[in-house]
Amino acid sequence: MTQRGTLDIVNLKKTFNVNGNTTPVLENINLKVKQGEFVSIIGPSGCGKTTLLRLVIGLENSYEGQILLDGKRINGPGLDRGVVFQDHRLLPWLTVERNVGLGLEGKRNGNGVNKQIVEAHLKLVGLQGFEKVYPAQLSGGMAQRAAIARALVNQPELLLLDEPLGALDALTRMYMQLELEKIWQREADVTMIMITHDVEEAIYLSDKVVIMSSRPGTIKKIIRVELPRPRDRASYDFMKLKEEILEEFQLHAENVFSYAI
Ligand SMILES: Nc1ncnc2c1ncn2[C@@H]1O[C@H](COP(=O)(O)OP(=O)(O)OP(=O)(O)O)[C@@H](O)[C@H]1O
Ligand SMILES: [Mg+2]
Repeated sequence: MTQRGTLDIVNLKKTFNVNGNTTPVLENINLKVKQGEFVSIIGPSGCGKTTLLRLVIGLENSYEGQILLDGKRINGPGLDRGVVFQDHRLLPWLTVERNVGLGLEGKRNGNGVNKQIVEAHLKLVGLQGFEKVYPAQLSGGMAQRAAIARALVNQPELLLLDEPLGALDALTRMYMQLELEKIWQREADVTMIMITHDVEEAIYLSDKVVIMSSRPGTIKKIIRVELPRPRDRASYDFMKLKEEILEEFQLHAENVFSYAI
């Protein structure tokens, strides 16, 4: 039997029709993600990362090949997948606890169970005490934490993150990477797939880094990261891996000032 949270993408091809022209966006995508794995996807702007994620969320349903979650074809969005975007997308007129509990409101759990679930998830992301606060009163990092809590509240098998830390300043971002690792470790069964433009972030967090190239978007290389956790960004092995990934983009330390892709 396939384990809960197993994603299997087989020979995926996706085209878009723009003004009568068919453009291939993703081609020959093959990817297996095991339950509980943390996988990052990295690649140039426009190579199809968000499109790939939208296909896994079930927001795009026309494609060739197969996208299987636990062996079953994905057919539209579902509670088995939680999503976090670069912007938190919290509803400004609802408090943090109402935002986080939104996905539970249709569920008749009774006897304050929903409240307990919300509380547990606010604790998981370090937002206890902020239940009654409105999104506008949160910092960027706190708002993203609330978005992560909201995405996890229905106990999804898969958490899909599209540049979740992309809008944060460098220090907050690094702090949030530690937080995200802790959340992933506590929610041991949840498989996480994160798009990022930050090579260091990908190495710090991932079991596997998927490197994509563009036009059309294909998987260029999959790198397994076997460094012990918590990872030391200054270690020789970490730096070596970073160089190896940057080389895939022809972004060597000696000829670039920034490695943002
Ligand atoms: N609904 C759409 N209709 C037509 N073309 C689209 C559509 N959505 C995306 N595209 C095209 O597909 C390609 C991939 O877009 P996508 O947003 O997946 O890239 P990305 O890798 O996420 O880029 P970025 O790193 O900038 O976020 C782009 O050329 C884009 O213009
Ligand atoms: Mg994108």
